[in-house]
Amino acid sequence: MTRRAGITALGAYAPAKVLTNDDLSKIMDTSDEWIRSRTGIRRRHVAGEDEYTSDMAFSAVEDLVRRYGQEALDGTDMVIVATDTPDAMFPQTAALVQHRFGLQAGAFDLLAACPGWLYAVSVAKAYIESGQARKVLTIGSDALTKVVDWTDRRTAVLFGDGAGAAIVEAVEAPYGLAPMVIGADGGGAEHLTVGGTAKRLPSGTELKEKLTMNGREVFKFAVRVMNTSTLEAIDKAGLTPDDIELFVPHQANTRIIDAARERLGLSEDRVVVTLDEYGNNSTASIPMALTHALDDGRIQDGDRLLMVAFGGGLSWAAGVITWGGGRYKTAKESA
Ligand code: COA
Repeated sequence: MTRRAGITALGAYAPAKVLTNDDLSKIMDTSDEWIRSRTGIRRRHVAGEDEYTSDMAFSAVEDLVRRYGQEALDGTDMVIVATDTPDAMFPQTAALVQHRFGLQAGAFDLLAACPGWLYAVSVAKAYIESGQARKVLTIGSDALTKVVDWTDRRTAVLFGDGAGAAIVEAVEAPYGLAPMVIGADGGGAEHLTVGGTAKRLPSGTELKEKLTMNGREVFKFAVRVMNTSTLEAIDKAGLTPDDIELFVPHQANTRIIDAARERLGLSEDRVVVTLDEYGNNSTASIPMALTHALDDGRIQDGDRLLMVAFGGGLSWAAGVITWGGGRYKTAKESA
């Protein structure tokens, strides 16, 4: 029988420090009204001065262990940390996680901007289904507030920090992940950048150390790929939009989420929105949203969940998971 990978445990972490829209209006020319009406964001959590991507990744895994017990990590043979803000180029953040939790596992970071965690899940799925690994710890952790330009109101108001962790392993049919959609278009590379070692892109566009974004171009791209990639993912799962119980999109902008939801014909009660509290947490956005939805009792075994994300690259990813088949009970379920 073919092995099918699924998600069997989740954890999330958001830093304690909160910046409201009103707080931002004291340090830049913006307002709560502008930010809320254009994006849906009310607050965002911000990593402490001495708190980094690895620290938040540790905290998300600790949350997972608190919920499901230490055995949820037993036998983990691969760790993938999706991030846009690794602590360092090397050591890779995933190796720090491997060591922290005493895992006998390979470890690598995955750079694919905001869809990075869904990319990581697709890699984990391939590892599991090919027999290359038995259990993969996937993490999305980002401290984007450390790379935003705090003098640029067009971008600084959008992002927050956080981390989410998920175990991917084999589950029994009918549970698990359908084939996923993974895409990129480097033709739009200049629309969303954070500098590295190069001074410019191959196209000649200058690279800045801090985050730069062409908001209108990214908006148009996002609305387009959220539509095409979700339909493709639903089709790959052999389903129609009516079969989707819950839509868990990348948390960037409520206007982008609403456009996608309406194109799919889904009612508002079938979408998970957490960006009002967290802003855009990049790679952490979907695993954090899943953890919240589970906590709120919005996910039942057998539910079909549609996940989709977009971001720098430009890149995108989408997939449908039939929830359930996990071996672990959450602390709440066992109580
Ligand atoms: N506060 C107040 N005014 C602001 C502002 C802020 N934080 N940011 C921009 N403005 C101003 C602009 O300067 C502009 O003023 P002008 O008309 O006098 O020049 C006006 O608001 C409209 O700007 P515009 O960029 O057209 O706004 P918009 O409706 O396109 O919304 C975004 C801007 C960034 C919210 C929107 O383009 C967006 O969400 N894009 C996608 C971004 C995204 O998802 N990125 C993450 C990818 S993972």
